[in-house]
Amino acid sequence: MTMQIFLDSADVLQITLLAKSGVISGVTTNPSIIHKNGGDLKMIIIQIAEIVDGPISCEVIASDAKTMILQGKIAANWHPNIYVKLPCTPDGLEACRALKLLGICTNITLVFSVSQANAASQAGATLVSPFVGRLDDAGQDGVQLIQDIRTVFDYAKSSTKILAASVRSVEKLTGVMLAGADIATISPEIFSAMLTHPLTDTGLKIFQQDSVGITF
Ligand code: E4P
Repeated sequence: MTMQIFLDSADVLQITLLAKSGVISGVTTNPSIIHKNGGDLKMIIIQIAEIVDGPISCEVIASDAKTMILQGKIAANWHPNIYVKLPCTPDGLEACRALKLLGICTNITLVFSVSQANAASQAGATLVSPFVGRLDDAGQDGVQLIQDIRTVFDYAKSSTKILAASVRSVEKLTGVMLAGADIATISPEIFSAMLTHPLTDTGLKIFQQDSVGITF
């Protein structure tokens, strides 16, 4: 299967519009995205889950395992497609293991190394989210990290999926695709850019001009 595309957004109107393309397989959110969007977390997450029929990541805001598990259980109760997003910390991984035992899907976020990705897989994460753009910001190679995690996961036959996050351009999107990411999550802006090409526009214009007199 080719790489799935998730939207990294909590903008319900924009998600509704873009989902019509039939290309969006899931949605990711984080506390910053929810804060920027405004509104009630539960309401937003449920609305998104009703628009997109796929994994919807909802991030916990606690930092201790016990409260993360509690928040994870609450969110998982909102809709069957909720994936509990947990930070890659010892407490986050502990919560990941506990939620997995309850049959709840998880997305381990803020992953910046192969070792962290391996630990997330060992803790039973459904998805692991390496942050490509933020690693590039720190002077390292985000796409290379995706490729390295792919190598390790393939070698170990890990069932944890690689969700390339913090992907901030169409070029990086192509990069993570070639590096073997299972999924990439992108902003609505990158999503729209991904679907367009100047040669598609000029080609279509010519076809439209030449279609005069053709009927169906
Ligand atoms: C992914 O789950 C994150 O929400 C997101 O991709 C972070 O992107 P940013 O580094 O551009 O904020």
